[in-house]
Amino acid sequence: MEILQNVHSYLAYVVLAVLIFAVFNALIGWLGKKEFTMEKDLRISLFALILSHIQLLIGLIVYFVSPNGLKAIQVLGMGGLNSAARLLALEHPLINIIAIVLITIGWSSHKKKLESKAKFKTITIFYGLGLLLILSQIPWAQWFN
Ligand code: HEM
Repeated sequence: MEILQNVHSYLAYVVLAVLIFAVFNALIGWLGKKEFTMEKDLRISLFALILSHIQLLIGLIVYFVSPNGLKAIQVLGMGGLNSAARLLALEHPLINIIAIVLITIGWSSHKKKLESKAKFKTITIFYGLGLLLILSQIPWAQWFN
């Protein structure tokens, strides 16, 4: 199952890049009073949504197969985890699930808005918050090893 850990690790670059792109695209559309188009803006936001959901699914599997996920808690106990281990086994999974819930809420509520400005604003806020949460829980030291 090591392959899934590698996929999760490499897909993270793509997910982050596309999310950052989607947030800036929405921010520029919002502040620049642009028209929200199906060809460009909807596709970028949908692409970011789908990629983060794929990363969520792979992350969930990794959580149950990796020695650094649930097993770490079972073997060492919650109190036995140092902060790096707790990040992988608890904070990163938990906060990232919340982040992806926010992104999903952003996606479905932008669809209910009629005006371009409201659509861009919704995407900017929800995807932006999700992105910040994800960035706050990346195991940077381990990732770049
Ligand atoms: C968009 C959301 C996510 C991003 C960008 C992300 C990114 C990453 C990165 C960069 C690593 C370090 C990989 C490495 O060591 O090379 C990692 C590890 C990990 N992630 Fe995620 N992740 C996300 C969501 C999730 C979710 C939702 C879960 C679980 C429910 C999860 C579970 C894990 C676990 C258990 C590890 C540790 C794997 C190990 O060391 O064996 N991730 N993640």
